Amino acid sequence: MTYSRSRFLLGAAGLALAGLLPGPAARAQSAAPATITVQVSQPAAPVSKNMYGLFFEDINFAADGGLYPELVKNKSFETDDHLLGWRAIRGAAGLESYLVSTDRPISNANNHFLRLSAKTAGPDAGFVNEGFRGMGVKQGAEYTFSIYARKGPGSASGLSVTLEEPGRNGPGPETPGSGQGLVQAQITGLTTEWKKYSVVLKPSATAARARLKLTLEGAGTVDLDVVSLFPKDTWMKRENGLRPDLVQLLKDMKPGFLRFPGGCIVEGITLDNRYQWKETIGDVASRKPMINRWNKEFKHRYTPDYYQSFGLGFFEYFQLSEDIGAEPLPILNVGMACQFNSAELAPISAAKGPNAAGQGDEPTLDTFIQDALDLIEFANGPASSPWGAKRAAMGHPAPFNLKMIGIGNEQWGPQYLERYEPFAKAVKAKYPAMQIVSSAGPAPEGDLFDKATLKLRELKAEYIDEHYYAKPEWFRQNVGRYDNYPRTGPKIFAGEYAAQSVAIASPDNKNNWDCAISEAAFMTGLERNAGVVAMASYAPMLAHVDAWQWTPNLIWFDNLTAYGTVNYYVQTLFAQNKGTAVLPVQLPGNAKNGTDNLFASAVADAPTGDVIVKLVNYAATPRAVKVNLAGAKKVGKTGRALVMASDDLNAQNTIREPKKLTPKEEKVAVSGSTVSYTLAPNSFTVLRIPGKK
Ligand code: AHR
Repeated sequence: MTYSRSRFLLGAAGLALAGLLPGPAARAQSAAPATITVQVSQPAAPVSKNMYGLFFEDINFAADGGLYPELVKNKSFETDDHLLGWRAIRGAAGLESYLVSTDRPISNANNHFLRLSAKTAGPDAGFVNEGFRGMGVKQGAEYTFSIYARKGPGSASGLSVTLEEPGRNGPGPETPGSGQGLVQAQITGLTTEWKKYSVVLKPSATAARARLKLTLEGAGTVDLDVVSLFPKDTWMKRENGLRPDLVQLLKDMKPGFLRFPGGCIVEGITLDNRYQWKETIGDVASRKPMINRWNKEFKHRYTPDYYQSFGLGFFEYFQLSEDIGAEPLPILNVGMACQFNSAELAPISAAKGPNAAGQGDEPTLDTFIQDALDLIEFANGPASSPWGAKRAAMGHPAPFNLKMIGIGNEQWGPQYLERYEPFAKAVKAKYPAMQIVSSAGPAPEGDLFDKATLKLRELKAEYIDEHYYAKPEWFRQNVGRYDNYPRTGPKIFAGEYAAQSVAIASPDNKNNWDCAISEAAFMTGLERNAGVVAMASYAPMLAHVDAWQWTPNLIWFDNLTAYGTVNYYVQTLFAQNKGTAVLPVQLPGNAKNGTDNLFASAVADAPTGDVIVKLVNYAATPRAVKVNLAGAKKVGKTGRALVMASDDLNAQNTIREPKKLTPKEEKVAVSGSTVSYTLAPNSFTVLRIPGKK
């Protein structure tokens, strides 16, 4: 079975507000300004510190080929096809032989390597690595090339390392022999023992699709392993650091949390293929790659070369969270493989029989629970504890201060609930302060959703993770979704959402303004209900323009550049202006939020004293509003409006036009405690009105 969400498709007919949302014909501007009253003197629920965050999953080449900037694909020859990403130059014309060998490897964890033999030295005696849809390198920047090598019989005692750009005489495929050298270096003095060699390469030109060529110096045999080309310019200049332009975009958003490592990737297609955090820490060279579950998931975006190197592993996720000021939120497998795929289940440990704890080869639920307990120790335990010591050895003796974990990704049905319950109990027994996120399944309505919610409330769950992938109109129509949710019991984590312009997982979905403005409308509903909704994150987060499987996404990138989508800027406006307490807002005639396609929410921001009002005008005409700050004692004379607006609901940012639609700032006059302002057609506006200093 493959991943198919069609049975959970949300139509436009949530109809919570049916009748309240007129079509375009009715979207005429009324002459008198619409009066919006913000009850400044009646702050309601506090807004959670983590309200708007990020959801990372290794889908769309988000990790290898993206955030994790290693340029060599399959650097240790450990993928199932051991030569994935590599090819002999000119079909091995210059080589006598080559093979993937396991004869006296570097280590048992990394036991395959490449053995090259040549009768004569020459420019064709070697191999090329293609990178991740090529290698993006910048003129004058520094890249550390490193390799483990040893010599065998013969006189070859070195390697020539060349970074080159494939040459094309005109458009179309590469013209053989016309590659352009960008930089070359020599590795010399190989011995008969494995040894690490390194050299810094500085390309003479910028190239988006370079490749790495290794050729033998002299005739004979040479063994190669752990071939790496890593930029020196990483986030915080770390040796195993991340791609700085991408981290910057994440940090700029001021995210409250980082949910990782997925998504369905947590679950795996089978249990064997699940994400196992323990395999992703420690020495980078010893982390074994695993097939990425998105590799062959979609026929329309078949990506058989998609693996996870785990160079970006759990230590790096915690470090990234810390770097961008986000609370880490790891999601752990609950003993279930993806229910859209094999739906394989780990037996519950209390079961009798060959699969009960400690018997048989299959992991039982106890294994998964133990992994979670060990993770908490890895993150928070003292450096003297067994798992805390591993964190300290990786360079972070201080705890990461993990406060919450997710049990299961997007699970549903009784199989989930019967695993979740003992899992959560075990975590709470050892770590009572750890906050737990539970799953309500892949769709935010229907029988499975209702049953899960009921049971999770009964179990006194702390956060329920709801996912919404639906048409843009669903987002606008469901703005009142949480208005009548119980104010006690579990909080809501809107863990994955994105408006789908065509259909869920359709390759034709676009990150367009219609989707983003509809998300903004929906988010006014989240914000008004911040007493119930504690966290929210758009999904997925990253996508390579040449290697994606899923669209839409928050941020797109190629090998050299990256851009935030219009959806990214909506998320950013909410996150940067989240405030600290909800302020009640009344629309004209006390109408429901969303009436006449006008959406609004407001918050007070204690540190600045600002009142922040968010307004969405989903109408093709301008709309005059009069915002009254009722009960405000001190109001400054000039406020700011941060505006995203476009006449074109299909407007998008792209790699060529990365800033086509971004927030623009303007001053607004405040008269007494009233702001008169005209909302642009199809606009999302954040008004920041200062308290008087
Ligand atoms: O965001 C893409 C996928 O959508 C996630 O992996 C999964 O949780 C959801 O089904």
